[in-house]
Amino acid sequence: MNLTLKIWRQNGASDKGKLVSYKVADISEHMSFLEMLDVLNEQLVNSGEEPVAFDHDCREGICGMCSLHINGEAHGPDRGVTTCQLHMRMFKDGDTITIEPFRAKAFPVVKDLVVDRSALDRIQQAGGYISVNTSGNTQDANAIPIPKADADEAMDAATCIGCGACVASCKNASAMLFVSAKVSQYALLPQGRVEAKDRVLNMVSQMDKEGFGNCTNTGACEVECPKGISITNIARMNREYLSASIKND
Ligand code: SF4
Ligand code: FES
Repeated sequence: MNLTLKIWRQNGASDKGKLVSYKVADISEHMSFLEMLDVLNEQLVNSGEEPVAFDHDCREGICGMCSLHINGEAHGPDRGVTTCQLHMRMFKDGDTITIEPFRAKAFPVVKDLVVDRSALDRIQQAGGYISVNTSGNTQDANAIPIPKADADEAMDAATCIGCGACVASCKNASAMLFVSAKVSQYALLPQGRVEAKDRVLNMVSQMDKEGFGNCTNTGACEVECPKGISITNIARMNREYLSASIKND
């Protein structure tokens, strides 16, 4: 395939940035999207130009680093995949592909397609943990009965990889889907109930401090989430928050 790429180039947070067009040739439909960008970067390096900065690590849908907005969609046109799992077979010969960083006030651009998503880490640090008794008489986890449905829902929530696609897809740049997944994975399990009240209050407070917008139930986050995190988690987080606020008064 021969393609035209329109890529956001921005040399640091204070630079204005602009879309720059590049041509790439002989792209195989079996390549991943990031491999196609590798081809472009090799071409740029060989011609003495600055390669395009983009984030990646695992390249297998686990780390949540590859945050690209492709043709207006977080992680591109496929469903249930991250950018690194997106295949070039989703595009056609002659296509023009627009590639931008995830856009949100809380995700400042570092360079080109790389954004700073450490706001999500700070939310996680505000409550995404449990206390475990390590005194020597720790209760065996297998001895704590947990309904299968709760265990399954907690596991589903725990598949959130913190990629930030939910924020980038939301017209309000809300991080509610991410935060609700983190709150839910603990709220559903007895081990998570110990700090449940502080967790939801602290994580939501940190989310607000970071400058994310509010949820207006448009559901775009759920559609673009590569891990299929359901917005029912947002409803659970709202219930947890309400109950924690009342009990705090
Ligand atoms: S909820 Fe989905 S889209 Fe949002 S950070 Fe988690 S995995 Fe990414
Ligand atoms: S590079 Fe790790 S999820 Fe894409």
